[in-house]
Amino acid sequence: MKIDGTPYRSIWVDEADGWSVRIIDQTKLPWSVDIVRVTDVDTMAHAIKAMLVRGAPLIGASAAYGVALALRADASDSNLRSALTLLGETRPTAINLRWALARMEKVLTPLTQNARVAAAYAEALRICDEDVATNEAIGRTGLPLLAAHGKDGRRINVLTHCNAGWIATVDWGTALAPIYMAHDSGLNVHVWVEETRPRNQGASLTAWELGKHGVPHTVIADNAGGHMMQRGDVDLVIVGTDRVTRAGDVANKIGTYLKALAAVDNNIPFWVALPSSTIDWTISNGLTDIPIEERSPLEVTTMTGRALDGSIATVRIVPTSSPAANPAFDVTPARLVTGLITERGLCDANEAALTEMFQDLA
Ligand code: MRU
Repeated sequence: MKIDGTPYRSIWVDEADGWSVRIIDQTKLPWSVDIVRVTDVDTMAHAIKAMLVRGAPLIGASAAYGVALALRADASDSNLRSALTLLGETRPTAINLRWALARMEKVLTPLTQNARVAAAYAEALRICDEDVATNEAIGRTGLPLLAAHGKDGRRINVLTHCNAGWIATVDWGTALAPIYMAHDSGLNVHVWVEETRPRNQGASLTAWELGKHGVPHTVIADNAGGHMMQRGDVDLVIVGTDRVTRAGDVANKIGTYLKALAAVDNNIPFWVALPSSTIDWTISNGLTDIPIEERSPLEVTTMTGRALDGSIATVRIVPTSSPAANPAFDVTPARLVTGLITERGLCDANEAALTEMFQDLA
């Protein structure tokens, strides 16, 4: 998608040197677009952990390039194993990380050391290119869901939580792909963007990328979503996901579950958009089997933003003596999910439908 008219991906190999990896530092958005040059696996692991790059598909793509950088320094078996372990331990919930690393391992392990570096870069690029094509297909799958609400120029109100847009993937996004397509095709689409405390991916990232693409949107406090639904101001909810079980349970950013409850109570469709790389075929019960990342309490006790004098400031908003807890994801049971928007089409959130649609993967 575009930033001020220029098309970008969220990750790419530097054209000048042909090997270092460029990422957009998402911790700096929306205040500045800082392009960071990553030259080694440790820096890439840090970028994933500290969330310079984030969002399930982009975490996977970044890890793939992390492997390529590691092998460029040392293509031995032991260094390949160390890189896979280091990158695999960066974040626990998004299955795309493990999916991408397993794919790199399968391709690279049988090769001679001499062949590994070129093969690693080629496989990482394939993962990125496939992600773009997959997300575009997700957009095409989801577009009719929006169009159904937009007859005769009527405003289509979509609510989303967190950031499942192009900067959470390599391009297009998952939940936002149908929204970009609807907007680009002339539909009157408007997005309620939940701020997504504690890290504010909605307020800082989703609002930024929708704004840069010209998609009408309004940021609301997380707690306002249910109220908007009760008032009839939400036609449908679309969110992304970090891991879906084979039974259709969905892990996504903390707060997603509450929106699913409110959507069901108000008879509003609650859709989840995902590439098949986000399905964990090894587990069925999301509540017991999906590891939920616990992040630093500092993300709850402080907030960072632009002060009125223009400087970027971090302020504490909780009494210094109060402890805080920070579970980063929650699980929405399949029974609350209207359906899954995938690259192969719409799919019910249950094991029979998923295994039927993805027979070759299940
Ligand atoms: O902690 P984050 O910002 O990596 O969490 C991101 C999300 O929860 C997204 O909704 C999810 O990864 C889907 S991204 C297409």
